[in-house]
Amino acid sequence: MLLNINNQAVNVIADPDTPLLWALRSEQRLVGAKYGCGKGLCGACTVHLDGQAVRSCSMPVSAAVGRRITTIEGIDTPEARAVKAAWRVIDVAQCGYCQSGQVMSACALLASKPAPSDADIDAAMSGNLCRCGTYPRIRAAIHLASRSL
Ligand code: FES
Ligand code: FES
Repeated sequence: MLLNINNQAVNVIADPDTPLLWALRSEQRLVGAKYGCGKGLCGACTVHLDGQAVRSCSMPVSAAVGRRITTIEGIDTPEARAVKAAWRVIDVAQCGYCQSGQVMSACALLASKPAPSDADIDAAMSGNLCRCGTYPRIRAAIHLASRSL
């Protein structure tokens, strides 16, 4: 299958029903997206499909054919630059395991809503769990990123 990953045409040999996450991590060595629950519940595996945040553990790789797949390794939008800078300023990450998923969800939020309220942030980020409890810093960093856009 031919996929578009981070603006590159990539041939993937995985079976069509293999989760996209495995094609990214095992075949392409793009290991920023993490495996957490495998059931679409934690958000650790979040990547973008055509700019929308999706759970790559719960999506067959065949569903990504003909669409733009963006991972934490390749995202380079104004929102992503603002989010990454804000993450560093606020020092959001603790263990870091959930953070690429958090960043990808935050970027998708800011692309669709450049000045989100606390409620907007809570709604958009509710599917991204953090066992370390970095939620207050995530919210602060999204506001900071928003102000710099
Ligand atoms: S690993 Fe995909 S949502 Fe948890
Ligand atoms: S920073 Fe550790 S799980 Fe979120």
